[in-house]
Amino acid sequence: MKKTHRSLAALALAAGASLAQAQSAGQLNVVCSVQDEWCSLMSTTFTRSSGIKVNVLKRGSGEALAQLIAERANPKTDVWFGGTGDPHLQAAEQDLTVAYKSPSLPQLHPWAQAQAEQSGWRTVGVYSGPLGFAFNTELLAKKKLAAPKCWKDLLAPTLKGEVQVANPASSGTAYTMIATIVQLMGEDKAFEYLKGLHANVSQYTRSGTGPIKAAARGETTVSISFVHDAPGEQMQGFPIATATPCEGTGAEIGSMSIVKGARNLDNAKKFYEWALTPAAQQLGVAAKQFQLPSNKTTPLDSRIPDFRTIKFIHYDYAKYGQSAERKRLIERWEREVNSLPR
Ligand code: G6P
Repeated sequence: MKKTHRSLAALALAAGASLAQAQSAGQLNVVCSVQDEWCSLMSTTFTRSSGIKVNVLKRGSGEALAQLIAERANPKTDVWFGGTGDPHLQAAEQDLTVAYKSPSLPQLHPWAQAQAEQSGWRTVGVYSGPLGFAFNTELLAKKKLAAPKCWKDLLAPTLKGEVQVANPASSGTAYTMIATIVQLMGEDKAFEYLKGLHANVSQYTRSGTGPIKAAARGETTVSISFVHDAPGEQMQGFPIATATPCEGTGAEIGSMSIVKGARNLDNAKKFYEWALTPAAQQLGVAAKQFQLPSNKTTPLDSRIPDFRTIKFIHYDYAKYGQSAERKRLIERWEREVNSLPR
């Protein structure tokens, strides 16, 4: 009993101390577009070292961009962390984010620096990851289906109702898929492909990770997903495996931006600098998310996909990161694909 009281008092004291610390260090509002566990770990770890209180809001990449547009006149967000790079480039183009040239840039991989340069230093790469397929190995065996290896395999009539992918309006993962297929096949052929795929899709989810979670739990057989999201599901014991398409695939450059008009600009810069350090970048793996970190000196976990074994297209990040291009492709997808019966 005595012991309980003592520990409660200690807790209260600790809470009081951190409250006082937080009051002096101020706060930070982060919109976060990776999975919840990583968002929380980033915020608690940063608060512990800086005393800055972090308010985190989880949003898909497309939703985060929509939020920054909606808040333009009165921004409530300071930093946008994670999510696919294309909408970060659109935010830069629309003057929703500020130019900030981090002294850490030379420590980053060339793809992360290129993302910064092409946005006029309004965003920066924090991770990268390849797009591919995930599948439930038990369901495939039960249904006597072969694991898909190529984009064309997803059109097989035997996969009718067995495929899930996210909706490109809310999800950067799904927009990366459309942009990848357009670059791989040419636009008209790509839309023919997407119409064929539509016949096999049971559901377009809001979030990019919805489909792999459904595949892991046996609610769908196949998902179109970033393959770095699979080890986290495997660690929970789910029978999930992945492949990257034989024809070639795209990769995201997960990014980070500081919002124009941020009320907590100094804290935003502190968070930004910290998020580019190897120590912070290791938190992805700690939260069971296995993207390739952008800082060249971040130690690599063996479960991070090996980019050297994957056939990549030359993804044109500048073109597919343009607002007009994204809007046009998503509208065409709504009109010609999503409106079709299944
Ligand atoms: C997951 C992936 C990230 C990706 C994000 C995009 O969290 O692990 O690498 O950037 O999805 O989310 P969205 O919902 O926009 O597709």
